[in-house]
Amino acid sequence: MEKYCLALVVMSFVVAAVYGQDTQGFISIDCGNTNSFVDDATKLTYTSDDQYIDTGVNANIASNYKSTISLVTLFSLRSFPSGDRNCYNLKPVVRNITYLIRVGFFHGNYDSHFSQQSKKPILFDLYIGISKWKTVNITDAGYIFMYEAVTVALGEVLYVCLVNTGQGTPFISFLETRQMKSPLYPYVTATQFGDLYGRGDVGGSKYTRYPSDKYDRIWYPLMIDEWTNISTPQRVNSDLGESLSELPSTVLQTAVIPSKSAPNSSNIYFNWTQQDGLIPPIGFNLYFAEVKQLPMGGKREFDIYYNGKLLYQQVNPKYLMANTIYTAKPQNMPIDLNRYSITLNATSNSTEPALLNALEIYSILPVDTKMVDPADNDVMLTIKAAYKLNKGWTGDPCAPAKYPWVGVGCDYNGNYSKIIALNLSNSGLTGSVSPSLSKLQNLKIL
Ligand SMILES: *[C@@H]1O[C@H](CO)[C@@H](O)[C@H](O)[C@H]1NC(C)=O
Ligand SMILES: *[C@@H]1O[C@H](CO)[C@@H](O)[C@H](O)[C@H]1NC(C)=O
Ligand SMILES: *[C@@H]1O[C@H](CO)[C@@H](O)[C@H](O)[C@H]1NC(C)=O
Ligand SMILES: *[C@@H]1O[C@H](CO)[C@@H](O)[C@H](O)[C@H]1NC(C)=O
Ligand SMILES: *[C@@H]1O[C@H](CO)[C@@H](O)[C@H](O)[C@H]1NC(C)=O
Ligand SMILES: *[C@@H]1O[C@H](CO)[C@@H](O)[C@H](O)[C@H]1NC(C)=O
Ligand SMILES: *[C@@H]1O[C@H](CO)[C@@H](O)[C@H](O)[C@H]1NC(C)=O
Ligand SMILES: *[C@@H]1O[C@H](CO)[C@@H](O)[C@H](O)[C@H]1NC(C)=O
Ligand SMILES: *[C@@H]1O[C@H](CO)[C@@H](O)[C@H](O)[C@H]1NC(C)=O
Repeated sequence: MEKYCLALVVMSFVVAAVYGQDTQGFISIDCGNTNSFVDDATKLTYTSDDQYIDTGVNANIASNYKSTISLVTLFSLRSFPSGDRNCYNLKPVVRNITYLIRVGFFHGNYDSHFSQQSKKPILFDLYIGISKWKTVNITDAGYIFMYEAVTVALGEVLYVCLVNTGQGTPFISFLETRQMKSPLYPYVTATQFGDLYGRGDVGGSKYTRYPSDKYDRIWYPLMIDEWTNISTPQRVNSDLGESLSELPSTVLQTAVIPSKSAPNSSNIYFNWTQQDGLIPPIGFNLYFAEVKQLPMGGKREFDIYYNGKLLYQQVNPKYLMANTIYTAKPQNMPIDLNRYSITLNATSNSTEPALLNALEIYSILPVDTKMVDPADNDVMLTIKAAYKLNKGWTGDPCAPAKYPWVGVGCDYNGNYSKIIALNLSNSGLTGSVSPSLSKLQNLKIL
């Protein structure tokens, strides 16, 4: 086991050398903390968010909440009482490479919001770049809200933005990006990204993340009544073979087969409804490895169906060897259908029931590609630097369209949005106007 971990660490260094990044291509930010620290469990270094954002206010959670949690990243947070939109500039990232983005919110009653009579939820929007990711709904001061997305970096910076929608002060506790290997999630592309619905170590019994998972995916044990867990003490190889799933061996060493209470003792199924919050189209990865030494003539073989539609035929998990089955394209479905299912049905030749070792399911969201003309963007960055403006001018000057930079007006017709108006009257500017301004070719008002 120790040898295995060492091998993973060595491989991470190879990746780092290729992309010229920090150790693993990881960015780990403890928002609102002015110091760096090494996390006990992962041994990853979390840094202050100072170098990633220039707006917001640092705060600490209330002391009575501090005693309830052990995760240091939750002790502090950064809140954004001013500005419609505040963005973290996450860099360096490598263009065209897939990243996992994980954000965490722990209110801890830092501003006494939840001491008030009404205890109204705090709602704000999260964006990746200029694409809406989700609405965060903080209903409880003592609950950890954590979300993950998998997205392709379209430039050298990834922006994560918190947008104030007038329903409470946005805040954030931690922010992590992890460089992934692109073919792992083929449904994540330059035009669509994945919002994680669930990631399960099926039949497992403990929580797993980095360094066991070299990409720091977090695996939670997943079990339902209709499943029986089986396992092997032997290491499962996931770095070789048909698909480089690169899952931790421990995640793959545990699996499930149908239990006695399953509707069919040969088949594994799981189903859900729209009310469960998994909105189509979806993309998923299913991970398999045989954990049982089958007797002579024995065979485990099954077909995979999504909503009754055949997706893959004759899956034959190999002994102690990982295999990944993923949806190549997002899976849609009729809107009126309110019950979704994935079923693994044993074939008639199979002597063993179906088996499942791990799974990940994502909602697929569109990437908003309407960004500002790169030439206009360069001019704006020059102006920002020349005038030392600190007005929360981060991210795309024109997007999201409802919340452009303060003082900036945009035209959204055409492939790129264009800056057509600039109002610097409230910026306390003195002296001559920067020559850069003349480069904004479409500028109409000043
Ligand atoms: C981005 O990566 C994909 C494969 O991951 C490749 O097919 C494509 O050509 C790349 N695009 C650019 C602009 O590098
Ligand atoms: C926020 O969450 C609460 C509790 O789950 C729910 O009742 C409420 O409808 C949610 N608000 C929005 C706008 O989704
Ligand atoms: C099934 O899971 C339970 C609880 O995690 C564990 O104690 C047991 O050893 C597992 N059984 C097998 C066969 O893996
Ligand atoms: C798969 O098996 C389930 C029973 O477990 C059955 O209801 C379903 O019709 C089967 N699907 C196909 C396509 O055979
Ligand atoms: C899932 O399928 C089982 C068996 O077909 C059924 O009994 C159960 O009601 C379904 N659950 C949902 C949430 O659709
Ligand atoms: C269980 O499903 C298989 C197909 O996977 C089918 O051949 C068999 O008849 C089903 N058994 C029952 C009891 O429904
Ligand atoms: C079952 O096995 C036989 C003999 O190997 C083969 O001819 C047949 O096509 C198989 N049936 C299925 C459904 O895979
Ligand atoms: C806008 O994009 C479309 C499709 O990519 C392209 O055909 C068209 O020439 C572009 N228009 C301009 C003005 O660049
Ligand atoms: C420019 O912004 C100031 C306040 O920031 C406002 O009072 C003024 O009306 C704006 N001018 C135009 C032309 O929008």
